[in-house]
Amino acid sequence: MRILITAGPTREHLDPVRFLSNPSTGKMGFAVAKAAVEAGHDAVLVSGPVSLKTPKGVSRIDVISAREMFEAVKSEFAKCDAIVMTAAVADWRPVKMADKKLKKSEMSGVIELVRNPDVLKSLKPVNAKYAKKGKRKIMVGFAAETGEPTAEAARKCKEKGLDFVVANDVTESKSGFGVSTNRVTFVCSDGRVVPLPLMSKLAVARKIIKEISKPIAIHHESL
Ligand code: PMT
Repeated sequence: MRILITAGPTREHLDPVRFLSNPSTGKMGFAVAKAAVEAGHDAVLVSGPVSLKTPKGVSRIDVISAREMFEAVKSEFAKCDAIVMTAAVADWRPVKMADKKLKKSEMSGVIELVRNPDVLKSLKPVNAKYAKKGKRKIMVGFAAETGEPTAEAARKCKEKGLDFVVANDVTESKSGFGVSTNRVTFVCSDGRVVPLPLMSKLAVARKIIKEISKPIAIHHESL
């Protein structure tokens, strides 16, 4: 299989030296890319700005903003069999980006924002077209939650046409952003909810790849 993975944060620049972003380090996504290659798949990794080394055998495309990630994913999606979106894509960006550093006197203290595209949601109708030709792709999302993660993950699973969502509670100290471990729950389109114990991100990644690699017939239609 050819697996498309996204990782890291996006940066939404206000000017060349200021941006809105989040604490994603890319660890989760790079682990998925590594696990994919380990399992004999081709892995294409679309990464936001992170300081990690590309795992051996992985093709990497670097992007900065949500719109760049959107464009890279759109063009790679046609060539892949599955997508795993671990990236923490910024939902909003400043309406304007200045091409020179803004002076304090030029800033009002208020930043006007506009919505970024939802990358996964935009792929739902595209995948419906592939499904009609019998070429549906497996789609996996993540859900960064700050409370009981399951209900919200199930909603995202349906809304974005996913096979399953990997939900993590990012308020737990050994889980979520930045750390090398994660405690996740697989929330599947067929109603299965599979909580996993705390484990390394690479071990979580191997579970995801194993789930994706199951024969296509057992993936329930979520479109
Ligand atoms: O990089 P690390 O430091 O290892 O941290 C890992 C992580 C915490 C970033 C990762 O485990 C994680 O939870 N990633 C998803 C973060 C997130 O953006 O969640 P969300 O609930 O806002 O989005 C749900 C899904 O939609 C995600 O698959 C996301 O990639 C996708 N999305 C979100 C917004 C958007 N505009 N487009 C999207 O496709």
